[in-house]
Amino acid sequence: MKTWWKEAVVYQIYTKSFYDTNGDGIGDLRGIIRKLDYIQSLGATVIWLNPVYKSPDVDNGYDISDYQSIDERYGTLEDFRELLAEAHKRGIRLIMDMVLNHTSDEHVWFQESRKSKDNPYRDFYIWRPARDGKEPNNWGNYFYEGRGSAWEYDETTQEYYLHNYSRKMPDLNWDNPRLKEAMCRMMRWWLDLGVDGFRMDAINRLVKPKGLPDSPNPPTPPVGIHGYVVDRTMCANRPGIHELLHELNQKVFSKYDIMVVGETGNVDAAIAIDYVQEERQEINMVFHFEIAKNPVLKTAAEIKEIQRRWNHVVEQHGWITQYLSNHDTPRQVSWFGNDTTYRYQSATMLALLLHTHPGTVYIYQGEEIGMTNVDFPSIEYYNEKYTVGKYHTMVESGTDPAAALDSLKKTSRDNDRTPMQWNGAPHGGFTTGTPWMHVNPNYPQINVEQEEQAEQSVLRFYRTLTGLRKAHPVMVYGTYRQLLEDDPDLIVYKREYESETWLVLCNFYDREHPLPQAVKEELAKGNHRLVLANYPDAGEVLRPYEARIYSY
Ligand code: NOJ
Repeated sequence: MKTWWKEAVVYQIYTKSFYDTNGDGIGDLRGIIRKLDYIQSLGATVIWLNPVYKSPDVDNGYDISDYQSIDERYGTLEDFRELLAEAHKRGIRLIMDMVLNHTSDEHVWFQESRKSKDNPYRDFYIWRPARDGKEPNNWGNYFYEGRGSAWEYDETTQEYYLHNYSRKMPDLNWDNPRLKEAMCRMMRWWLDLGVDGFRMDAINRLVKPKGLPDSPNPPTPPVGIHGYVVDRTMCANRPGIHELLHELNQKVFSKYDIMVVGETGNVDAAIAIDYVQEERQEINMVFHFEIAKNPVLKTAAEIKEIQRRWNHVVEQHGWITQYLSNHDTPRQVSWFGNDTTYRYQSATMLALLLHTHPGTVYIYQGEEIGMTNVDFPSIEYYNEKYTVGKYHTMVESGTDPAAALDSLKKTSRDNDRTPMQWNGAPHGGFTTGTPWMHVNPNYPQINVEQEEQAEQSVLRFYRTLTGLRKAHPVMVYGTYRQLLEDDPDLIVYKREYESETWLVLCNFYDREHPLPQAVKEELAKGNHRLVLANYPDAGEVLRPYEARIYSY
């Protein structure tokens, strides 16, 4: 089936770090409105907005205290309506981040819930009495808070509540039909306002395992360099989750022309198909963590194997996503590429890889100008809870602080959260005030203005790719077949659609390679034409991070 959301290029905006118009150091909705022409010029057709709802902001907005209002740091509901209207005017749709697994502990539901055991909102959350004077089970929280438990004791009613993330983010109880109704009403309210869909946070974790059994892998006590490890599988993909998503689909999603993309940790292609197969009517596609968000850097061979597996999802009437970074990952050019000598070459190779694989494309703000990881000197510069929490568990368990920081730097989620670099003015032109988070000190060299003028421009390369996607349905609907599956360095594949055939070549590393015989033979089958490349000429050798698209 052909749809707009399969053809989409989604631009992800982390509002807090995008563009500040009132000088308070925090990006805002008016900042996005100002930059809509830039987003349009990039060729994006959808904006995904990270949470901008009212929030105490312990997890940059993923802790929502009111689903139906905009946090005043970001603006007002009026600003939001204007943003939506202005985006739509430019042919850009907008999807909201929807967090259904937990709320802030400052949400009125939780405030009520904690008051008494017979409060009407008690069962909106998951409360349990102590077990043998301790936590109800052995689960650990994902943010490494405190001593690590996923349970927090509450004096008032002398019971514990579950929080898989921060203690300020209690998990909701989806067994409760009243909660379900309230959430459906709230989602319909946003859709009636005109939003074009949702990115569903932690969506495969809504249903908890019956009886909340102990994990067979309890958090190990903090040891050495690794801190402790938390089992994240306990609440993932539990029986009942598909029935719930189908119900949300029938009651809400299917009533509108929208896209719904789920964030699903602990999901591989074999599991994903059940969420995204068209006939099942649940959600449209999921973000998996097999390539981008992995503490272990994937090799080219592994990436090929993962892409082959996920392509089966497409072949079975499902749909998939392509992304290489987001607000929870390191910067892609620093993680997969080379952010010094070959920054242009590797950033463009990765962009080409992203846009020419089957699936909806997601660009995270700043990747289109090749923004890099940041090298902050001490833990005080870091903000996000995962890095800070893990750092403290490591130091408490005797790890040298410098070594602890060093081990976290490369993967910290703050690498992707430093403010957008617009120009060479102080703070990269992000704000005229003091930014909420330090700007990457390389902003004088890497910024949008610079990229507009540079001879080798990552930004222009992205624009070319998104332009090609509009003109060539083969990029969206073409079949996908890899060549040279066993080559450890090269990622080579064929896309075919109607009368169009493309051959894509990516050298994933900084080593040179002669053009493989198999590629020459393939190209000899027809009159080939070079569609796009990241080097000025295309010879018999593939240079570091060289990438090419041929049509033939
Ligand atoms: C996934 C979000 O992407 C991440 O930023 C957040 O911390 C957790 N879910 C909790 O909502």
